[in-house]
Amino acid sequence: MTILVTGGAGFIGSNFVLDWLETVGEPLVNLDALTYAGNKQNLSTILKDERHIFVCGDIGDQKMVARLLLEHQPRAIINFAAESHVDRSIRNPESFIQTNIVGTFRLLEAAREYWSGLSLEARGTFRFLHVSTDEVYGSLEPNSPPFTETSRYEPNSPYSASKAGSDHLVRAYQHTYGLPTLTTNCSNNYGPYHFPEKLIPLMIVNALDGKPLPVYGDGLQRRDWLYVKDHCSAIRRVLEKGLVGEVYNIGGGNERANIDIVRAICTLLDQMIPRADGHSYVEYISYVQDRPGHDRRYSIDASKIERELGWRPDETFESGIRKTVEWYLANQDWVASVTSGEYRNWIEQHYS
Ligand code: NAD
Ligand code: TYD
Repeated sequence: MTILVTGGAGFIGSNFVLDWLETVGEPLVNLDALTYAGNKQNLSTILKDERHIFVCGDIGDQKMVARLLLEHQPRAIINFAAESHVDRSIRNPESFIQTNIVGTFRLLEAAREYWSGLSLEARGTFRFLHVSTDEVYGSLEPNSPPFTETSRYEPNSPYSASKAGSDHLVRAYQHTYGLPTLTTNCSNNYGPYHFPEKLIPLMIVNALDGKPLPVYGDGLQRRDWLYVKDHCSAIRRVLEKGLVGEVYNIGGGNERANIDIVRAICTLLDQMIPRADGHSYVEYISYVQDRPGHDRRYSIDASKIERELGWRPDETFESGIRKTVEWYLANQDWVASVTSGEYRNWIEQHYS
């Protein structure tokens, strides 16, 4: 038995692949285009593991994906591959449409063709699990209840609109062709191997470099945060027990204002690696121009996956953020290796 994972060299995908081999142990094919966000260094411990077959390629290359499926005969596809950074989607939406919508469409087409050719039994057990985001539901008012699986889709950024498009395609392939799909909509993840242009790793890396910590607008935008390993365990649970055609919201129950996240990181750094001048890292906080169309609040109601599949996160925000800061302190070589070329261009262009 084997599974196909797409985007397995990115942040969540690489955590998933590493955890999968450790906990489940079933072989997997890892298809990743190695964009700026994909790093083979994330997989350095398993590059020689026979259970891990890495293929560099695009989910939009339907013929290549069709060949891969025929060759490896996976029992499931888990689709992490995407363009994932909202700020990049504002500056350059094209690649988001191409990968998140067209790419997912091509992947679905290849999956449908492969699945149609399987035996009746294999067709029944095959799964296409699509990994999506809570951002498709749009922005919440301060006192509105959290997003449920039936909340209306109201995406506000090119990123969330493109993910919404892919979610609709997945739904349609189940409804129209009977492809056995599952969709998960998760809140903001954080943890090891998070590319340092996203909020939490950016703040850690900048603080350690003595650089400003750029907080957009008033810093009171709210997100729910989930430790990445908990997201991985939720996906494994949905794959194993989820009902075909269903959508599962995944969240950490940790809704926080951005400024409180940044302050929490500063406090941990003050304890773990105090500044030479004795001052707090908090002094590096710098309020900068807000993101256009910035969603004010996301919050997730994850009661369905808890009730129906018995999944709950293991980490609190306090335990998860401590582990994360410790990981970045212990893995500064990794940070140095991923913050070159394209990363520097982005930081210069975006924050100058
Ligand atoms: P990421 O940007 O870190 O990784 C994406 C990976 O996909 C990279 O390795 C990249 O090389 C690969 N990729 C991009 N385009 C590709 C293509 N056309 N073909 C093959 N591979 C391609 O993203 P992430 O944060 O790990 O997110 C993974 C998935 O989870 C995405 O679908 C994202 O929408 C979703 N998600 C992310 C979060 C979060 O907080 N990061 C939360 C909820 C859902
Ligand atoms: P991000 O990690 O980009 O995730 P998303 O926009 O998908 O939620 O950003 C998380 C929050 O942090 C978001 O409200 C934007 C904010 N943010 C900053 O305030 N400063 C920054 O430099 C970055 C990258 C994000």
